[in-house]
Amino acid sequence: MTKRYKICLAAGLVVLLSVVGLTITSKMGVAIDPFYPVDGEVFQSGVMYEPFTQELPIPRVKESRGPFEFQCSLAQFEGQKAPKFYEVHARKAMTEIVPGVQTEIWGYDGTYPGPMFRAFHNEPVIVRFHNEIMESITIPHFHGGHQTAESDGVPTVEGQIIPPGEFRDFCFPNIAPIEPTTGKEDMGDFPSFMWFHDHSHEPGSPVGITGRNVYMGLAGLYSIRDELEQKLVDDGVLPSDEFEIPLVIQDRALDAGGRLIYNAEAVDHDGVLGDIPVVNGKAQPMLRVERRKYRFRILNGSTARFIQLRLTSGEFVQIGADTWLLPQALTPSASDERGTRVGEIRLANAERADVIVDFSNAPDEVFLENILFQSKGRSPEEVVEPGTFLVKFVVEGPTVERDVSIALGTPLRPHTAITADEIVRTRTFEFERRNGRWAINGEFFDHDRVDANPVVGTAERWILKNGGGGWSHPIHIHLEAHQIQSLERRAMDPQEKFKKDTVRLHPNEVAEIFIKARTFPGRFVFHCHNNEHEDNAMMVRWDVVEAEGQERALTDNQAIIRAGEAPLPLAPNALASTATGVPTDLTVDGESAVDADATSKALSESENVTTDDASASISEPTTLVEPSGDPAL
Ligand code: C2O
Ligand code: CU
Repeated sequence: MTKRYKICLAAGLVVLLSVVGLTITSKMGVAIDPFYPVDGEVFQSGVMYEPFTQELPIPRVKESRGPFEFQCSLAQFEGQKAPKFYEVHARKAMTEIVPGVQTEIWGYDGTYPGPMFRAFHNEPVIVRFHNEIMESITIPHFHGGHQTAESDGVPTVEGQIIPPGEFRDFCFPNIAPIEPTTGKEDMGDFPSFMWFHDHSHEPGSPVGITGRNVYMGLAGLYSIRDELEQKLVDDGVLPSDEFEIPLVIQDRALDAGGRLIYNAEAVDHDGVLGDIPVVNGKAQPMLRVERRKYRFRILNGSTARFIQLRLTSGEFVQIGADTWLLPQALTPSASDERGTRVGEIRLANAERADVIVDFSNAPDEVFLENILFQSKGRSPEEVVEPGTFLVKFVVEGPTVERDVSIALGTPLRPHTAITADEIVRTRTFEFERRNGRWAINGEFFDHDRVDANPVVGTAERWILKNGGGGWSHPIHIHLEAHQIQSLERRAMDPQEKFKKDTVRLHPNEVAEIFIKARTFPGRFVFHCHNNEHEDNAMMVRWDVVEAEGQERALTDNQAIIRAGEAPLPLAPNALASTATGVPTDLTVDGESAVDADATSKALSESENVTTDDASASISEPTTLVEPSGDPAL
């Protein structure tokens, strides 16, 4: 794509430019263009606006409704409370991303971003998703969630696709993974901050449409607390809801008519980049804050743009990475092949950072800044200072007394490490470009092909290799956290040393991770979370299977395959399911009939499964670099 400049826009816009003054002056006295540089493959918007004039919207907390007969299986676990019921409508709506410009979005409940769920441990959530968008199927996926495959919202399970005009139910138990050796929840892996987004990819179609659907606005947040996190809030360690602000950071481009520009073809599936920084659905908004500590739950919800964040004044204290709280509050860093920048946070698509910012001694204006320059879907390029300001915080009033106590080193959630002696097997996955598309171990996504089949309750070592060519791939694995053991090309940042659901593979990177697949056998996926790479078709199906002799009743779309691995004892209550398509009420039947055909089909499919490195079970324990099993860090 040719290099273009905003200045080349129509004369009328140039006049407007000089009237509203489309540059802002930073504290350092540097003039800053509100847009991301339009270079390389970045789509150029045909609209102009003055940044920091719109208030940052705070996503509305989703309200529950009365019970209904639901059609998903709700796994029953000890101590579960009555479920809460919700209804979400994916529909079109008009909104102002840029002030004064009407833009049509596709949003959950017609909002962009969608509403925020607030869930609690052991309190199941049942959501009825309606698709009122006539142009598209939709599949909502709860990213970071530990749930059955049939409620995971993945394109490997056909019954989950919601055709236009229809609805599907999804059931979330809101539990931690069940540790097979004890039969108890592993509360070290209890989630905190998830998000949900469209994950559409029609079976049989070579390309997915997740990128477009997310770009059009189908994304929302899901926060969940257990007793431990609630106590941190109640004891005045962490800020309460009022001072907990989600920041969904995205990039978008609008044409002169205000329409979202999405065209993956134009950039050869590299990744779609827009020139407008959007936070919670608004182009460069502002937020009034008090002189006190805030908790910001930051999501990079862009389809292809990486970001590197810093503040123009003040520091981040990071308390969570991706879905999970950290063992203790720490100073983050941002490492790449060039080195480590302490205090900054790099986030690829889908990565999250849960941070505390203390404004108590802040100047009247503080900006959140993205200093990572990126002109191509291929990869971010380099840090450029000053960067692009995303949010302006207008700091008001006197310093608040008796603020929350969170500070560097405050203990949060004890970490339970996966240890080398638990590893039963090694698999290798190589991520590479092939015929202008994106492959894993040489193959494109096929929802009928199984590329890994770990036994439920076992831990594995996966080697994730970036095949090179200068491409970056953030790899996201469903169902469970993974623990990064080593990276070859860059330092591991302190916030990456515990649990992650997405690992950034910079060019030529090789990551070694440990992952333990627990609780739910079924069909899951992992993929690159550059949504255009995922759609074209860097995704694989992996099935969590029951060990021989451990089969239970499963529905046809949770059909499992047999694995020839030695079984580990399963938690007695680890599995439950009901037939799909049969409405059930609040009593859940865990003993529905096995669909013999589906199971035998799946079993025969399993014979064709070859896994790379299948014989490479670890016999001697490997040395654990980090993390250590010590909960105190
Ligand atoms: Cu956030 Cu498979 O996705
Ligand atoms: Cu990728």
